[in-house]
Amino acid sequence: MRTISVCVGSSCHLKGSYDIIKKLKDLIKEHDLEGKWELKAEFCCNNCRNPVSVRIDDSELYSIDVERAEAFFKEKILGA
Ligand code: FES
Repeated sequence: MRTISVCVGSSCHLKGSYDIIKKLKDLIKEHDLEGKWELKAEFCCNNCRNPVSVRIDDSELYSIDVERAEAFFKEKILGA
């Protein structure tokens, strides 16, 4: 099982991390990937100046906003 972790620390929360989680959750379902990918919430990753922090497995941190969530999914999850 692979993991997408989304920061839900206060700064990322204000920038829409829950909307990103919802979007990614819907996309995982839509692409029938529920048995392969799981979503996790992560606490502050010390990257608060940027958009919402997202990590794939143990990857570096990505910073995405809600508008980029779908493109991120296509690139990093479907393209993985
Ligand atoms: S709150 Fe997300 S990186 Fe700090």
